[in-house]
Amino acid sequence: MSLYAIGDLHLHFQSELKAPGQLNGRVWKNHERVFRANWEKLARPGDTLVLVGDHSWGKTLAECERDLDYIMDLPGRKILTRGNHDMFWDAKKTRRLNEQFAGKLSFLQDNYFAYRDVALVGTKGFTFEGPFYLDHRGDVIGFDQEARLRAEKLVERELNRLRASFEAARADGYRRFVVFLHYPPTNILEERSGFTDMAEEYGAEQVIYAHCHGESRFHDSIIGMWRGVQYSLVSGDYRKWMPMKVME
Ligand SMILES: [Fe+2]
Ligand SMILES: [Fe+2]
Repeated sequence: MSLYAIGDLHLHFQSELKAPGQLNGRVWKNHERVFRANWEKLARPGDTLVLVGDHSWGKTLAECERDLDYIMDLPGRKILTRGNHDMFWDAKKTRRLNEQFAGKLSFLQDNYFAYRDVALVGTKGFTFEGPFYLDHRGDVIGFDQEARLRAEKLVERELNRLRASFEAARADGYRRFVVFLHYPPTNILEERSGFTDMAEEYGAEQVIYAHCHGESRFHDSIIGMWRGVQYSLVSGDYRKWMPMKVME
């Protein structure tokens, strides 16, 4: 029995939407087939797969039906977190989604799910992504102050949601935690953030995130061990559609 994670399937079995430029290129060719083949080879009975956001281009639940069917057909237990493109998932209606898909899919938001003695906690997260002003060498020399202020409010809201998730698990007696975010925990200007601070505060063992696509974005945030927490990027194109083993 093992726990795996991957993010950003960006499925569009129904949606007419074409993937934006950064999601083109060889790694995205038939990616849903490549991913399914990889996971079917890897998965053993009892395994859990956490899908860390950006599941579907569909804007409503009806437009995501075939994408969610594809996910439901994958082997193992499937837990989903919200991505910025998951318009079908109203943050306030997570409970309803969990009722509707009971026994098939689990939606992680303001709640937690247990894996052995570990609580899987998480939320979409948020991080300021610019605009940044660069000098001729490409180094950041400034950023849009207003956009930064707007981002701070969204970060605050997501931190509250993550705390709700931690607290729900703690109230049930859990002391071991793995955190799942869609957005990276820090932006390119930060060394630490409210998300890294909270991971440390609760003694989380790992923080798993996605959202970063393409070579130029893969190192936007922390990868590896930092201040006692293991950080991993699992966006599908970074992982070349091979889920990462989080723990046995
Ligand atoms: Fe994405
Ligand atoms: Fe994203």
